[in-house]
Amino acid sequence: MRPVHRATLRGLGAYIPKKLLTNFDLEKMVDTTDEWIRTRTGIETRYIAEKGQSASDLGVEACRQALENAKLKASEVELIIVATITPDMLFPSTACYIQNKLGAKCGAFDMAAACSGFPYALAVGQGFVESGMYQTVLVVGTEVLSSFIDWKDRSTCVLFGDGAGAAVVTRSQDDQSGILSSYLGSDGSQAGLLQIPGGGSMNPPSEETIKGGLHFLKMQGSEVFKVAVRTMDAAVREVIKQSGMGVQDIDCLIPHQANLRILQAVAHRLEIPMEKIFINVMRYGNMSSASTIVALYDAVKMGKIKKGDDVVLVAFGGGLTWAANHIRW
Ligand code: UT7
Repeated sequence: MRPVHRATLRGLGAYIPKKLLTNFDLEKMVDTTDEWIRTRTGIETRYIAEKGQSASDLGVEACRQALENAKLKASEVELIIVATITPDMLFPSTACYIQNKLGAKCGAFDMAAACSGFPYALAVGQGFVESGMYQTVLVVGTEVLSSFIDWKDRSTCVLFGDGAGAAVVTRSQDDQSGILSSYLGSDGSQAGLLQIPGGGSMNPPSEETIKGGLHFLKMQGSEVFKVAVRTMDAAVREVIKQSGMGVQDIDCLIPHQANLRILQAVAHRLEIPMEKIFINVMRYGNMSSASTIVALYDAVKMGKIKKGDDVVLVAFGGGLTWAANHIRW
């Protein structure tokens, strides 16, 4: 069914903290090598927030830039949706901190879909604009994963980085461009594959949870790898089918940036040439909900996307969750 109003991305922003952490730095921290990290993941560097820099600090910078690029003022924003799994606090929401720092006067809430956070949040923003309830929605993905990483665990600490991205979602001025379809999926039966088990109501913080390191991110990497390839492949096929098109019509695929080998496997299954897949995992590592929006921002900045292109965002993450959006640029 055609929506009442089509939603589009009017301005994008990104913010990456300054502090660089290379594979060679990690060699001095845990039993790993640059060679292992590069060949198993494609990652070379990642950026880490300063002590005291929270998810809202990174997110607000991305929002300011997105608003500037959209030529809009904070006072014109009607809703802020923040995707994060590393919020400033359990509550209040990181979205409220961002609303205050921006000086916006509007509704604001967080949502958690782990690495699928941005495509999920974009679908939610799309729904608000399409229904006519709001005309200008800020959709943000922001993470300070470094605060939840066990820096002694080589199986996870080499993979993640901090960063934020934001998009201003507004009504499209024409009928051709904008978000044509979104697709969301989940499978809570596999929640144990990727989680921060401690600190919530299931395992409230205690001496035991701290001693057991339950406040750190835990992942069964090779299991997650297999599901990631399968679900991202399926999500891309589903979202493009919803638009009445095929995988061959995609001009640029912006996938979640977790591991270069995952992206190669997804490309192989979809039979999409690697040149059509935007990759920046080598620079930033996995920034969870910030990954897809920062990749989209970089792709646009580097001139990889032109007007009329069919762009697909796709992600996979803890939950388990997966999501995709098809955007006609
Ligand atoms: O963003 C949300 C989703 N997250 C992902 O999509 C991540 C998905 N998973 C992955 O990217 C990969 O599974 C990893 C990069 C995490 C691991 O790669 P893998 O090829 O699946 O390796 P593995 O876990 O099977 O481990 C292979 C070996 C093990 O040694 P043994 O048991 O074979 O002797 C590990 O102990 O590599 C070892 N290893 C390391 N060695 C050096 C694990 N981490 C490291 C390390 N440096 N940092």
